[in-house]
Amino acid sequence: MKERAGRVENKVAIVTGAGSTPGPGVGTGKAISVVLAREGAKVLLVDIHPDRAEQTQRMIEDEGGKAKVFRADVTRSDDCKAMVEAAVDTFGTLDILVNNLGLASFGNVVDLSEEEWQRAFDINARTVFLASKHAIPVMARKGSGAIVNLSSSSAVRAGGTVAYSAAKAGVIAMTTDMAFFHGRQGIRVNAVIPGMINTPIAMSVLAAGPQTDYVNRLRAESNMLGTQGDAWDIAWATLFLASDEARWITGVALPVDAGQMKLGPLTMFNRLREIPAPKG
Ligand SMILES: NC(=O)c1ccc[n+]([C@@H]2O[C@H](COP(=O)([O-])OP(=O)(O)OC[C@H]3O[C@@H](n4cnc5c(N)ncnc54)[C@H](O)[C@@H]3O)[C@@H](O)[C@H]2O)c1
Repeated sequence: MKERAGRVENKVAIVTGAGSTPGPGVGTGKAISVVLAREGAKVLLVDIHPDRAEQTQRMIEDEGGKAKVFRADVTRSDDCKAMVEAAVDTFGTLDILVNNLGLASFGNVVDLSEEEWQRAFDINARTVFLASKHAIPVMARKGSGAIVNLSSSSAVRAGGTVAYSAAKAGVIAMTTDMAFFHGRQGIRVNAVIPGMINTPIAMSVLAAGPQTDYVNRLRAESNMLGTQGDAWDIAWATLFLASDEARWITGVALPVDAGQMKLGPLTMFNRLREIPAPKG
């Protein structure tokens, strides 16, 4: 069993999208769930693919932590209601909600179909709305709770993902308003803005094929630290915001990106042009 600091000891957490898209590495939902459990939380692992969440559960239980898988489509209100009820029935209460679920889609307003636009908002913004809608009354009744919403750097600078960017910008806006409305009920609401991190889904889209090493180098060099981040970096930031250590922090959107979003075009250009492009 891993040694625990107990930073969220005995808290009950829901993590949406707690499985991980298959591939090398781990997604943020899986890493967040493992880190919360490692620090003492009991975690309801919510995913539309229960087999993926079961892998997260195995990892948690191998370390001596507590978790339960709950199958739900978080775009559906009745599933979100059932998910909150399952957390309370299984673990007795609800202290932490991590709205991790999200999925990028690419394209501009001309190319994008109306269905793709709607889908981006369903997956990335509606899920935050619905999960929070059902979780907040439980937290309000006990007078405490912490919600962490996952946004994206695409929300604040061009990502080539117009619908995803708009939905993730909406998540930041929702975070501020939710923090305002529910602060007096003892509920804190914050967001994490992941930069370009290594996750199975990101690597399958951005670094597939023979240019993998080159693309990885570009990704690492395009931030201030010159290193790649991964889902564990997002998990540690989420843990902090979810824990009582952040008791006086609400309404913020914390970039976890090694300073990438603060880099100007000239500094970025000078860094990247030193990297030799592969031949052919
Ligand atoms: N990966 C990145 O580089 C990156 C960058 C910025 C932001 N983010 C954000 O981080 C979050 C997680 O991304 P990831 O790449 O780690 O995820 P992931 O694709 O590895 O995992 C997402 C999980 O959500 C589940 N899921 C999909 N639709 C669902 C639904 N309707 N209901 C319930 N579960 C569903 C999937 O089965 C999967 O297990 C997202 O909000 C994403 O936008 C990721």
